[in-house]
Amino acid sequence: MAKKKLSRIDIQQMKERKERLPWVTAYDYWTARFAEEAGMDMILVGDSFGMCIYGYEGTVPVTMDQCITHSEAVRRGAPNTFIIGDMPFLSYQVSVEEAVRNAGRFFKEARVDAIKLEGGRRMKAQIRAIVDGGMLVMGHIGLTPQSSGQLGGFKAQGRTADTALELIEDARAIQAAGAFSLLVEAVPPEVCRIIRDDLKIPVYGIGAGVEADGQVMICSDILGIFQAFTPKFVKKYDNLGKRTLKVFTQYAKEVRSGEFPQEEHTYKMVEGELAKLKKRLK
Ligand code: KIV
Repeated sequence: MAKKKLSRIDIQQMKERKERLPWVTAYDYWTARFAEEAGMDMILVGDSFGMCIYGYEGTVPVTMDQCITHSEAVRRGAPNTFIIGDMPFLSYQVSVEEAVRNAGRFFKEARVDAIKLEGGRRMKAQIRAIVDGGMLVMGHIGLTPQSSGQLGGFKAQGRTADTALELIEDARAIQAAGAFSLLVEAVPPEVCRIIRDDLKIPVYGIGAGVEADGQVMICSDILGIFQAFTPKFVKKYDNLGKRTLKVFTQYAKEVRSGEFPQEEHTYKMVEGELAKLKKRLK
């Protein structure tokens, strides 16, 4: 039986029932298929693909067109999963109108269920306008990679009373603007718990402790594909990077030695045709 895609109401009720919701990023068809088969509740087509797929140093160069292409592939791979498109840098900061138009592209072209954007109080107008346009919005505060320069790098946030209070104000503003959920990244678990208890909407975490309403991880991190660096909050469940290297090395060795391909990997000529061919070649 096909998996039933969660609705906004299901997601809200999971918070009320204190059910933790697992989700993961995916950037392509196959990863999305595996994520759906594994029963992930949501999939984020994160702009982290800038680093994980394209090899950029951060997420800033990622474009709307790239996001749409990857989101379309993920939708094809996971037709029955709640999919969130990630608004890339400068697709929503310039004006409220641009934010609504670009959010709309995710829904019209890639058939996502929600979009996510980074920023707290300063994104209130954008969130309100996208919600007024009939779309679901997830907020994202704490370590917001698109503004990591302003934050002084990829650093944990909210570690002092003052900065934690700022985050709590941001979280309240996002809820008041109509977001259906919030992602909190790289903050102490105590701060995440306060935000979770303070808000009615689900509060998910990445690097924010176990008490969030659910967890997201970057697929390339938990699979062990991304090699450039590993944040403290990542658990590597496998080392597909190492396994891929092993496969490629063995394949190259077998091609060079003539061990691959074997007869079982080849096609047979139709009976009698080889003799005919040889005759014609004389
Ligand atoms: O782009 C991304 O993958 C993210 C993660 C922090 C989940 O936003």
